[in-house]
Amino acid sequence: MKTKIVKMNAEHITEIEMKESADILRNGGLVAFPTETVYGLGGDGLLCDASRKIYKAKGRPSDNPLILHIADWKSLSDLAAEIPERAKALGEAFWPGPLTMIFKKTDAVPLETTGGLSTVAVRMPSHPIARRLIQESGCHIAAPSANLSGRPSPTRASHVMEDLDGRVDLIIDGGDVGIGLESTIVDVTGVCPVILRPGFITEGMVRDVVGEVRIDPAVLMRQPDATIRPKAPGMKYKHYAPRADLWIYEGDSERVVDAINRAAEQMAMDGKRVGVIATEETRNQYRSVLVLSVGTRQKEETIAHNLFRILREFDERGVDVIYSESFRSDALGQAIMNRLLKAAGYQVVLVE
Ligand code: TXA
Ligand code: MG
Repeated sequence: MKTKIVKMNAEHITEIEMKESADILRNGGLVAFPTETVYGLGGDGLLCDASRKIYKAKGRPSDNPLILHIADWKSLSDLAAEIPERAKALGEAFWPGPLTMIFKKTDAVPLETTGGLSTVAVRMPSHPIARRLIQESGCHIAAPSANLSGRPSPTRASHVMEDLDGRVDLIIDGGDVGIGLESTIVDVTGVCPVILRPGFITEGMVRDVVGEVRIDPAVLMRQPDATIRPKAPGMKYKHYAPRADLWIYEGDSERVVDAINRAAEQMAMDGKRVGVIATEETRNQYRSVLVLSVGTRQKEETIAHNLFRILREFDERGVDVIYSESFRSDALGQAIMNRLLKAAGYQVVLVE
């Protein structure tokens, strides 16, 4: 399959190319498109065949369910058998936006799309291109992140090309995404909402709307624990991983810099190519050749925005080992550390 790429500006969506993309979806094909979180690999989520194609293109295990993307509340009733009050409240507060909710599914949603589960994940994205594509196609678009299974999620079209060239009919290049981490997933099927995957919508923001919220223990895991089984099937797989061996150094900032410098020098002497994930605050304190700043601690959104891009960049540069600073694990930091820990396979060095 030859993959077509079309450039599109979110402020001036080109009609012809939007129609072409929508037609592909209606005919059961695959279109990668930008959302405000990461790029998605879209197909008609109510068509078994389109869902199967998505799993195949990504090399994704078939028990890992897809998120369905909608543009209006009416479409939610096509997918969700029950819409609890707290889901309405969360939707009112955060839709359209980077929030996914888990509902009991209707019969319209094929088990292929939900990985065999009786529940369904639904999100109403805010990105203008994503919204128009949903409206124009009339589809409930199933869209996982548009990366090969296991790789960091794509935050720009070139990342999608790297992973999915020849595996998808069309890629809409709408430039860099805004947030850079996938949506917050909240299970609203039980009495108390549960966060299954942290994201830009933080625990505190959810609590402010619905009063109480729990966090799936798998999200808070600091080391691999076979006894904890994540409620979001996708969270159990090795994820977001660069090809290099990634280590997170945790502790007092100055000591972390010191320890990373020493480890990096040792590795370099052993002939390894080393990369360092630094911040604006520390970038000048490292002696390694390849130091990339992921953003500033003064504004955690910058770190969320750059993390996946930087992991890919180290791959491109053929790095063998990456040393990363650690980040706060509350508020947005919860999502950042969750992705970083998974990317590192939970390899953490505590610096005393
Ligand atoms: O921001 C996002 O959510 C992006 C953009 C493209 O919208 N999409 C995304 O999809 O991150 P994906 O497939 O990479 O991640 C979906 C996650 C997986 O961890 C999956 O296991 C979980 O959602 N999930 C989907 N349906 C579920 C369900 N019924 N119950 C529990 N977890 C579910
Ligand atoms: Mg993904």
